[in-house]
Amino acid sequence: MQESPVLVETSGRVGIITLNRPEQLNALNDALMDALGNALLAFDADPAIGAIVITGNDKAFAAGADIAAMADWDYMDVYQGDFITRNWETVRRVRKPVIAAVAGFALGGGCELALSCDIVIAADSARFALPEVKLAMLPGAGGTQRLPRAIGKAKAMDMCLSARTLDATEADRYGLVSRVVPAEALRKEALNLAAVIAGYSLPALMAIKESVNRAYESSLAEGIGFERRQMHARFASADAHEGMQAFLEKRKPVFQHR
Ligand code: HXC
Repeated sequence: MQESPVLVETSGRVGIITLNRPEQLNALNDALMDALGNALLAFDADPAIGAIVITGNDKAFAAGADIAAMADWDYMDVYQGDFITRNWETVRRVRKPVIAAVAGFALGGGCELALSCDIVIAADSARFALPEVKLAMLPGAGGTQRLPRAIGKAKAMDMCLSARTLDATEADRYGLVSRVVPAEALRKEALNLAAVIAGYSLPALMAIKESVNRAYESSLAEGIGFERRQMHARFASADAHEGMQAFLEKRKPVFQHR
C-alpha cells in the first residue's frame, strides 16, 4: 500500500501535519496538496484543536512543486485544472493559527507554502529560496506577492530574479521567519509555541488572525476600523469576561472557547 503523503497526529489541542514524501524532498504534487488541504480543513473543523503545525523532515520542509509532475503539463492542463488555486490555497481558508516548522530546504512552492502560514519557525538548517526562474518559471504560488509584503521589494526582487538562497539567519533578519531555533529543538519549540497559542480562547485567536490578515488587504483606516469592530465584538464573548475576571481574581482563566 502506498504511504500517505501527509502524516496527521495531535498533541493536546495542537494538530500536527507532517509532509511525507522524503524520497522526493517533499516535492509538492497534487496528491500531497489534496491530503494537506483535507487535513487542514479537518483540524479547522475540529473544536478540540486550537492551532496547527505543518512540518517536514530534517532535510526538507519541501523542495518545491513537483517538477516531474509539472514537466508534461500544458496551458490547458493548468488552466482547466486550476493549478495552485484549487488545492494549494486551502491553507488560506483555515481560520485557526497555522505554524510552519521549517528545517532544511524550503524552496519554490515549499517557501511559498511557508509564507502562506501565519508563523514560520526555522531550524538553523533551514534554507529559503524561490528558484523558479532557473526553470524559466515564476514563483506562482503567491511568492511574487507575499514575499515583497514580508521582506520588502528590494530583497524580494533579489530572491525572485536571482534565485538567491537565504540561510536561517538571513531569513530571520529579513523578517521572513518569526524565530530561529537549533535544528534538534525545532519540533519541540514549534509544538510548545502551538500549545501556548492553542491554550488561548479560540474565537479570540480567530479574530486576531483575521485582523492581522486584514492589514494586507486594506488601507490603514479600513484596517483600523475592522480591528475596532473585532475588539468591540470581544465584549460579547464569555471568554473575554472570564479572562478579565480571572485577572482580577488572580487566578488562571478557564476558557470555554465561546
Ligand atoms: C520533483 C524533486 C524536487 C522537486 C527534489 N526532487 N526536488 N522532484 N520536484 N521540486 C527529487 C530529486 O529529483 C531526487 O529524486 C530527490 O528528490 C533528491 O533530490 P536530489 O536533487 O538528488 O538532492 P540534492 O542533491 O541534495 O539536492 C537538493 C536540491 C535539489 C538542491 C533541493 O533537489 C533541487 O534543486 N530541487 C529542485 C528545487 C526547485 O527548483 N524547486 C522549485 C520547483 S518549481 P531522484 O529520483 O533523482 O532520487 C516550484 C513552483 C511553485 O516550486 C509555484 C507554481 C508554479
